[in-house]
Amino acid sequence: MSEATPLWSGRFESAPDAAAFEWGSSFGFDRRLFEDDVTGSRAWARALALAGVLSTSEAATLDTALADLLARGRAEPSFVNGPDEDVHSFVERHLVELLGDTGRRLHTGRSRNEQVSLDLRLYLKRRIPLVQERVRQVVHALLTAGSAAHDALMPAFTHFRPAQPVLVAHFFLAHASALRRDFDRLALASREADALPLGSGAVAGTSYPIDVVQLARDLGFSRVVENSIDASSDRDFAATFLYACSLTMVHISRLSEDLIVLCGDEHRFFELSDSLSTGSSMMPQKKNPDPLELVRGKTGRAIGHLMALLTTLKGIPSGYNKDLQEDKQAVFDAEDTLAGCLGVVQAVVSGLTVNRERTSRAASGLLLATDVADYLVGRGVPFRRAHEIVGALVRRLVAEGRDFDSLSMAEWRAASELFGEDVVTRVTARASVAAKCTPQSTAPHAVERTLADFKTWVDRAGLGLPVGVATAK
Ligand code: ARG
Repeated sequence: MSEATPLWSGRFESAPDAAAFEWGSSFGFDRRLFEDDVTGSRAWARALALAGVLSTSEAATLDTALADLLARGRAEPSFVNGPDEDVHSFVERHLVELLGDTGRRLHTGRSRNEQVSLDLRLYLKRRIPLVQERVRQVVHALLTAGSAAHDALMPAFTHFRPAQPVLVAHFFLAHASALRRDFDRLALASREADALPLGSGAVAGTSYPIDVVQLARDLGFSRVVENSIDASSDRDFAATFLYACSLTMVHISRLSEDLIVLCGDEHRFFELSDSLSTGSSMMPQKKNPDPLELVRGKTGRAIGHLMALLTTLKGIPSGYNKDLQEDKQAVFDAEDTLAGCLGVVQAVVSGLTVNRERTSRAASGLLLATDVADYLVGRGVPFRRAHEIVGALVRRLVAEGRDFDSLSMAEWRAASELFGEDVVTRVTARASVAAKCTPQSTAPHAVERTLADFKTWVDRAGLGLPVGVATAK
């Protein structure tokens, strides 16, 4: 038999079928959990010593060997390789090769079922903050773009038809708001992973007197799982992480779609930096937004991983089942996909320029109709009636290919006696924006406040300080 005898070979007369063994092995991808597996094993050795199962010197020997193994794996990533069934078997094989029977004692009272859950929990707790940092950097880029836009105006859309004037900063902050929720959602996923599964054994718990509360503390967990059967098949934390990744992807996909359209020739609200655009092999005039299209395209992949895991989870009976091995590639690929996309979106947003002339021209015209109706409401006209009057006026202007600002005073008055000279100054994009007065609106003072609030958030989140949920202004 190869030097990587499976951990369970004693039960069988013959060696496993080589092809099926290799096909079912997870070492090719769970080697990514190497560091966490070693961390967990070192803590387990300490816990076994505290429980009196290992002598202090055995635990110390194991700890040194594990630390050396980790150092070697870090220095030489290709070392973490071999014919082993999984990363847990790899670590144990090396310990036994190195320490003989002392190495053989480490797995006392422990099962790979809980070990794999532990490793993935430790991994997510370690990696989620890195993803959050990338989310924060995109928020920072949006904030910077918003501040740089000053008082530039643009239309906001509903049904992708120009709806009402807004500040360009308000548009960037809209996307920042969604990403700020994603940051919090990722924190929730980390919190869900934050429970120690060790002590669950294979499914029923362990019969060695392990102080799991102390062990949880040792490994940086804030709590211990509640039920050993549940713990061995619980991958909710992985599903929550995949959901958080998927929704973040959905948000940056929508941002990408906005930018693809609004940077396009029909709008030209924003200009993509050349370095983040691509050309055509045939059409010399093309400036394509490939990175943004790829972000949009890869979103399906992240959502696919969530669907795949949920589908895997829905059918398994209680306790560990090998189906659960499918969790890891989903988690790793979703993480890589999201991290890569966030990086490119951050670069694209940082490289954007606002074409103020185009955005402000698009922010006026008939999309001021609501402001005209509000003018009449200010003169005492019931809103529904004002809507009818302005609707009729718009119908006429559309037919004649004109705007409100081409109307003479006589024409205003013909639509309603209540229009006064001031209608000319009241019906502008700038006045429309200034007239808004709720804290979440595009009113310049509200946007100013939101920018300041986001700035504090970005700074605090960058320092790892608690950021809390957005508060009322
Ligand atoms: N490679 C396995 C996984 O990823 C580790 C746990 C194996 N446990 C077992 N009883 N086969 O789920």
